[in-house]
Amino acid sequence: MNTFYRAVAPFVLLSIRCVAQITIPVETTDFAVVLQSDKDNYLHMVYCGKKLNQSVDYKDIISTYRFPSGNSGVYSNAYTPAGTWNLAEPAIQVTHSDGNPSLDLKYVSHQTVKPDANSTLTTVQLADPVYKLNVSLFYKTWQLENVIEQWSEITNQEKGPVVLQKYASANLFFPNNTFYLTSFQGQYLKEMQPTEEKLQQGIRTIDSKLGTRAMLLGTPNFIVSFDQPAQENSGTVLLGQLAWSGNYKLDFEIDSYKTLRLIAGINPYASAYTLPAGKSFRTPSLIYTISGNGTGQASRQLQRWARNYRVLDGKGDRLTLLNNWEATYFDFDETKLSGLITDTKKLGADMFLLDDGWFGNKYPRNNDDAGLGDWQENVKKLPHGIGYLVKAAKETGVKFGIWIEPEMVNPKSELYEKHPDWVIRQPERPEKYYRNQLVLDLANPQVQDFVFGVVDGLFTKNPELAFIKWDCNAVIYNAYSVWLSKNKLPQTHLYVEYVRGLYAVLERIRAKHPKVPMMLCSGGGGRGDYELLKYFTEFWPSDDTEPIERIFQQWNYSYFFPSITTDCHVTDWGKQPIKFRVDVASMGKLGFDIVVNHLKPTELEFCQQALKNYSEFKTTVWHGEQYRLASPYENPFASLMYVSANKANAVMFSYFHSSSPIFTLIK
Ligand code: GLA
Repeated sequence: MNTFYRAVAPFVLLSIRCVAQITIPVETTDFAVVLQSDKDNYLHMVYCGKKLNQSVDYKDIISTYRFPSGNSGVYSNAYTPAGTWNLAEPAIQVTHSDGNPSLDLKYVSHQTVKPDANSTLTTVQLADPVYKLNVSLFYKTWQLENVIEQWSEITNQEKGPVVLQKYASANLFFPNNTFYLTSFQGQYLKEMQPTEEKLQQGIRTIDSKLGTRAMLLGTPNFIVSFDQPAQENSGTVLLGQLAWSGNYKLDFEIDSYKTLRLIAGINPYASAYTLPAGKSFRTPSLIYTISGNGTGQASRQLQRWARNYRVLDGKGDRLTLLNNWEATYFDFDETKLSGLITDTKKLGADMFLLDDGWFGNKYPRNNDDAGLGDWQENVKKLPHGIGYLVKAAKETGVKFGIWIEPEMVNPKSELYEKHPDWVIRQPERPEKYYRNQLVLDLANPQVQDFVFGVVDGLFTKNPELAFIKWDCNAVIYNAYSVWLSKNKLPQTHLYVEYVRGLYAVLERIRAKHPKVPMMLCSGGGGRGDYELLKYFTEFWPSDDTEPIERIFQQWNYSYFFPSITTDCHVTDWGKQPIKFRVDVASMGKLGFDIVVNHLKPTELEFCQQALKNYSEFKTTVWHGEQYRLASPYENPFASLMYVSANKANAVMFSYFHSSSPIFTLIK
């Protein structure tokens, strides 16, 4: 029999397969992922769905499937190895120290601990019976939020180095019949556009090879809906994200039995990783939540988890701000900025945020083609330095924040002249620029020190600096690291070591400056994942601030992120009245990027009142439960509601796409 059946008539199926040996339920309050070893000690994922009343019931689950002979059982493998009898997409592929490319993984042991009342951590050990290579699978659960974080650790106990050709974070298996995948693709100014498709036999891959701003063209966020297209309030859905800030690859494989295999991890493209003897490689995490009541509940679960456990200061406060980017671009000086600081106060925002253009002397940053990397105040524009502005802001009664882009360099800069070796580029080939700039080699510890120094220097010189906007505007072209080559390390480590270097810098920054809010920006929405959000309080979803388009974009981001993390600025994009623009931005963390002096008196008065109103309901927007009431994709209007945890307050936003919004504050 060539087909693999679900249990529709269990009595027919009783005698079919092996005696189950070990059953490992990974349970949250409502859901369970269940692993089970077979008679040959291979570990399978045998269940993903509603938690059963008694965990003993899971043992029988495998007997409700009918496995044909041959190698089909390998499809449900909990971490599929390559090079032996598996012919499906592998989770792991290695070349052993003796050059042998085969891997087999068998169950060895497992344990579950309870780090705190709301979580469990299950670790499963797998080992190759022939080679000394082990894999540990980790499943961390947050019970109340129904969230699972899953990652793997590969340990080389052979005598020599092992090359990891592929090293996924997670390998999931779902034996339903029909699957719908929603992925979120885009481009600059059109980030996070959803596409839903019915998965067909074969592999649907979502990936990035951009290196730095990895989410620009597509994101590692996805929705799998079981049996029907995703609904907001009904049906079983899984919402997930690979929390990795570099190249990622998500494979959704419908195998020949029409079951779904999901393999998610670092993109193996140009990234074979040589693991020395005695060393382990920890993969990034796949984070997912399951809901039996549609995407609405799933998003609320993920948003709650993010606020409570993941995002830096997720339960805290945020600063409203006036940003000068679209008001001045690079054209400003101390006098103009002092005026904008006064405008910030006049508007009633908490902070003035100074954007790009404040640095560089030999090559002044008067445009985006020079100065990046030279983080000294431009003496013409700011003769008294940043300190003067921080002080001026304090005297005016507002806080002061600043823009940096410390991972990047313009070829027209002193940094480039002094340290060409720090730059990622092919030494023998013409340089290729993205926004006139190149990326610094964060695999190099000296570059890590430099980037740390940029941030630390700003805080040390200006202890009252209240905010950092950390930008990242270039992708990696001509991937090549002088440092890796000098240290006789393979170039194929670059994409991985770059991201690890970035995390190492952020660890150091947060060890020394744990609280200061930082915004993650990437020329719009090129970055924003749950690994970086351990260090950042918020992110910039898109340079597109046209309010109608923002309604759609913010809607899409809200599947995965709580509104407290989503920075939304009122700008001059769009022709809508000021109220419409302010209302749309008030659905996230509110800011302004406008010329205050250009506002009509009535508009200024409106903004001042709007900021006062916002301070009354912002806690509900930031920390409340979000309900997506009417989708802009299905209606000529959109409606969202935020309800405080104690259900005492709610804020509802409703918009006609081409008319003024109706805004209601219910108290
Ligand atoms: C990127 C950001 C903008 C602004 C500019 C400055 O494009 O997305 O908000 O900071 O850089 O160069």
